[in-house]
Amino acid sequence: MFQPPPDVAKTVQITFEGQTYQVAPRQTVAAALMGEGYLTLRNSVVSGETRAAFCMMGICFDCLLEIDGRPNQQSCMIQVREGMNIQRPLKKGERT
Ligand code: FES
Repeated sequence: MFQPPPDVAKTVQITFEGQTYQVAPRQTVAAALMGEGYLTLRNSVVSGETRAAFCMMGICFDCLLEIDGRPNQQSCMIQVREGMNIQRPLKKGERT
């Protein structure tokens, strides 16, 4: 469901939670991560339940990630870039 077309070369390197991936360019961070098998992008700060990107158009905010050190970025609205460093937000009760 979230796989790039087969004729698109995987040329952009991103890092997600310390693991590097070669992904297709011109797709969003959320789509790239789902294509790599990551369906859980964060946990609810209230209940701790897992959350996945839902609307993929900037409405639900269930796709918030830390991207290049900037917290609470809507990963469904941001295209992958070479060298991008992505982290899940801290879970409820976690401290840096
Ligand atoms: S998936 Fe809904 S805002 Fe990103």
